[in-house]
Amino acid sequence: MKKILLNECLLRFPALSRNESLSRSAAASFAMQCDPTVEETAAVKTAVSEAVTNAIVHGYRNSKGNIEMILQLYEGNLLKITIRDRGCGIPDIKAAMEPEFSTAPPEEERSGLGFTVMESFMDKVRVRSSKGKGTAVTLEKTIIGK
Ligand SMILES: Nc1ncnc2c1ncn2[C@@H]1O[C@H](COP(=O)(O)OP(=O)(O)OP(=O)(O)O)[C@@H](O)[C@H]1O
Ligand SMILES: [Mg+2]
Repeated sequence: MKKILLNECLLRFPALSRNESLSRSAAASFAMQCDPTVEETAAVKTAVSEAVTNAIVHGYRNSKGNIEMILQLYEGNLLKITIRDRGCGIPDIKAAMEPEFSTAPPEEERSGLGFTVMESFMDKVRVRSSKGKGTAVTLEKTIIGK
């Protein structure tokens, strides 16, 4: 059965690393209405941070663009957070989500574990992407709370 949407918020910001902490804090603030534990808040912040960093460093790489973050709360304390960019897209999503897969140049020293981290901290991670059009990552977590 489809869950009822109780609350929704849209945040749009330029793909700059200085906005990473804003996105983390905004997600944590939105999650507050579910009365999360410290661990749940930390999990949401970490997953959002990985997805936003990916949009900045991979999606837009050296170009300018905006990131949209859609924060949604559904009945049953289900939190859904979508991070969307209109960057280069991911040609092979399955491969990109494998642990230790990274297209970053070696000098950036990325471990290729961002998606693995998102999946370990959230209940569900859904990725939609088309080459040249961009990527949307949806993170889902039911907040059990205190
Ligand atoms: N928003 C995005 N746009 C384009 N490509 C992406 C995007 N997000 C992820 N990718 C691709 O998926 C790969 C894996 O992402 P993941 O976050 O797991 O690892 P990473 O970013 O390379 O390394 P780490 O997150 O450990 O620093 C990236 O190297 C990149 O090729
Ligand atoms: Mg990453």
